[in-house]
Amino acid sequence: MRFEHKDILDIESLSVQDISMILDTAEGMKEISKRPVKKVPTLRGKTIVLFFQEPSTRTKSSFDIAAKRLSADSISLSKSSSSIVKGETLIDTARTLEAMNPDIIVLRHGCSGAPHLIAKRVKASVINAGDGIHAHPTQALLDLMSVKERKGKIEGLKVSIIGDISHSRVARSNIIGFTKMGATVTVSAPGTMIPRGIEELGCKVAPDIDSCIDDADVIMMLRIQKERQESILFPTEREYSNLFGLNSERLKKAKPDAIIMHPGPLNRGVEISNEVADGNNSVILDQVTNGVALRMALFYLVAGGSRNVDTI
Ligand code: CP
Repeated sequence: MRFEHKDILDIESLSVQDISMILDTAEGMKEISKRPVKKVPTLRGKTIVLFFQEPSTRTKSSFDIAAKRLSADSISLSKSSSSIVKGETLIDTARTLEAMNPDIIVLRHGCSGAPHLIAKRVKASVINAGDGIHAHPTQALLDLMSVKERKGKIEGLKVSIIGDISHSRVARSNIIGFTKMGATVTVSAPGTMIPRGIEELGCKVAPDIDSCIDDADVIMMLRIQKERQESILFPTEREYSNLFGLNSERLKKAKPDAIIMHPGPLNRGVEISNEVADGNNSVILDQVTNGVALRMALFYLVAGGSRNVDTI
């Protein structure tokens, strides 16, 4: 079975079989990062451009590490270090990069749809590393991987996503991804942070966090995305934390084996307390670890690899 996609732009474009193939491949890739020499020659001679027009710690570094573990040559560009600051358009930037014959372009951009725009214009594979409030498919895939690893399955699980749903590309991609893989997704947030029509993505909306966490197998907390909010959406952080934050007291209402997720970066003391973020139920750092294996799998698959990674 071959992976048929040139680009990874959103979760909608991936079938259940595609997602299963990606997760199986990532599971195989994880072993490479545990070897004394964490490098295989699989993508030797391939060139990967990491173009991040918004800040990133975990997505950018894990894509870079993933490229290096597969022996690809990677270069990094940021908005401030590129000719975008001199007025060059995104399309001209993409065409300029294309003229240097890269194999894969990874793009993070503040505008929804930017990776889709350049994917139509370049021969290189384009991987969306987060576009505006639209999609963060690689985050959703590593979240699916982390849940499958801890729970042994995705189908039938109850997943609660709590926080700034309106401005979260992670929420959108995860609602679509978990629903597609057979989980039930419920979201909760202040009314000002729930977009109208969100149920059309296949999730339910809970009026408060308590009714959302009591029977959840997976509790995913989200940061308030102040950088994307055009107006104040809640009175104070303290009030938000009281009503929608996850702390040890509130966690007692959840199932003992519920896992706590967060895509990061965390605003400790706002949406999640220190004790919960660092507690036994938290898989937040597992998510980061799996991000490397998942992105190795995507590089491998879009570069033409098959499902069997045993021989890598
Ligand atoms: N989860 C996530 O996208 O984190 P970064 O912004 O640090 O890449």
